Amino acid sequence: MSDKWWQSAVVYQIYPRSFADSDGDGIGDLRGILSKLDYLAELGVDVIWLSPVYPSPQDDNGYDITDYQDVDPLFGTLADLDRLVVEVHRRRMRIILDLVVNHTSIEHTWFAESRSSTDHPKRDWYWWRPPRAGMAAGEPGAEPTNWSSAFSGPAWTLDPTTGEYYLHLFSHTQPDLNWENDEVRGAVYAMMRWWLDRGVDGFRMDVINLISKDPSLPDGPVTAGRLLGDTSEAVVSGPRIHEFLQEMHREVVAGRPEPLLMVGEMPGVTVQDARLFTDPDRGEVDMVFQFDHVSMGPYKWNNQSPRLTDLKASLGRWQTGLAETGWNSLYLSNHDQPRVVSRFGDDSDYRVESATALATVLHLHRGTPYVYQGDELGMTNATFDNIDDYRDIESLNHFAYATGTVGESPEDVLTIMRLVSRDNARTPMQWDDSPNAGFSAGEPWIPVNPNYVEINAAAARAHPDSVWHHYRKLIELRHTEPAVALGDFTMLLPADERVYAFTRRLAEVELLVLGNLSGDSVTADIPDADAWAGSELISVNYPRAARRSPTTHMGGVRQPAPGPIALTLRPWEARIYRRSRPPTLA
Ligand code: GLC
Repeated sequence: MSDKWWQSAVVYQIYPRSFADSDGDGIGDLRGILSKLDYLAELGVDVIWLSPVYPSPQDDNGYDITDYQDVDPLFGTLADLDRLVVEVHRRRMRIILDLVVNHTSIEHTWFAESRSSTDHPKRDWYWWRPPRAGMAAGEPGAEPTNWSSAFSGPAWTLDPTTGEYYLHLFSHTQPDLNWENDEVRGAVYAMMRWWLDRGVDGFRMDVINLISKDPSLPDGPVTAGRLLGDTSEAVVSGPRIHEFLQEMHREVVAGRPEPLLMVGEMPGVTVQDARLFTDPDRGEVDMVFQFDHVSMGPYKWNNQSPRLTDLKASLGRWQTGLAETGWNSLYLSNHDQPRVVSRFGDDSDYRVESATALATVLHLHRGTPYVYQGDELGMTNATFDNIDDYRDIESLNHFAYATGTVGESPEDVLTIMRLVSRDNARTPMQWDDSPNAGFSAGEPWIPVNPNYVEINAAAARAHPDSVWHHYRKLIELRHTEPAVALGDFTMLLPADERVYAFTRRLAEVELLVLGNLSGDSVTADIPDADAWAGSELISVNYPRAARRSPTTHMGGVRQPAPGPIALTLRPWEARIYRRSRPPTLA
């Protein structure tokens, strides 16, 4: 595979409503983002991914769109977005938009027309079905299939206008588009071209591997303890998915001179499928978000934290699977996941150390790293005690379902929500220690984490050993050391429950990454440790005893240390060593 610009790039995800509010209405907006572009340029990121800013009733915070070719007044205007694109480009960054085309909002005019009668020309733009054979509309169990929606309850809702059900894999306010229909696909491609013509640099495509459904709509298996069937077999990477993505590539991307980035969010995708999706010769997408490492429990609402060996096995399998063909997206968090330091690290005793150790390990994998806003500050999960503090539709639906239908105690449900709710990552960005963390002059739409007084961007930038500076240096390292982007990956110590160790190799350059992902001091028992004697320590997430200058921490004057490398790691210590092997010794 020839080198692509996005292999040495780092993407920063902005969740607009929680990033920066310019007008004091308590909701972040485009002008707020504009005012923070220098911050992002200083961090060094290459690409900004904006979660949706299109007009929307905001039932799922914009993942329910009523107009694909405009901006919601909550966030500003189309002119603000045009200006943002220009200003991003002026700072030599790129910007991609979220493309949510598995479904629209129930308030989209397409759906209004589709639901109006069974013979409307847009009827077939969505999935309409009569009740199950022999059952009356509205009767419990009369839904056309037994599928559960991702946001609790059945994936079908009865529409009284015509007495038929429509399909929604997410909320009932997010009806699924019927991609079998040629006009639907044509409308989506035209819309995508319109945005690219305006200057955006690509798309992050929401749940894009769910757009092709098995048209026979078979019932799914019902696992123990669940009331409804699983949709995976019928909708994950369905029969026409590769065809649709190749068509999209031909219609939208092919032949454009600008360097674009097309990334597909793909729940349930397998390594084998991802290899096909990201094979450059097939012309589908550049990389995918897979979910294996963030869904390692029986189902979402549980408090099982993964064992390190499982995490390594999972990420390692993806490294191996896409080594020859394809490319990985690297992430540990985003707007749908809890905060990385709270989930995989230690957000109390070793917050800075664990946030920086996890970042080191993630960014040194082969693939394109994604930084979710606030992770570069080591922001932590929300600490909501009350259901009234939650805003997320998935969390609220789950609370109602678990405490109502299932009969769990509210306290138990809230305990789990504090660990896994999506709102954990959606509290406002912590800019400084002024009221509301400098996010807004008004009342924020969701409570600010009270720890903003200590954890904020102003404090982090002022401190040379902060999480922020560590991220900045990791990003810089990817830009300056080709082995980070392109080197081969070899996992070491797969059975070690505390140390995450691997090498990266490109020609004669080899990097050794040692991450102690535990609160104990441990010795990394790597094979052939002697061979690393005299190699250069290019990154460490603890302050160096005799710092030559704040910038020699990483990427500064290179002075190989004599003698063996230190294999005993302090709690959550992460190191990167670099050596250059003459080809004859290889
Ligand atoms: C994706 C988005 C998530 C959204 C869902 C439905 O998973 O990341 O935020 O709720 O799709 O659009």
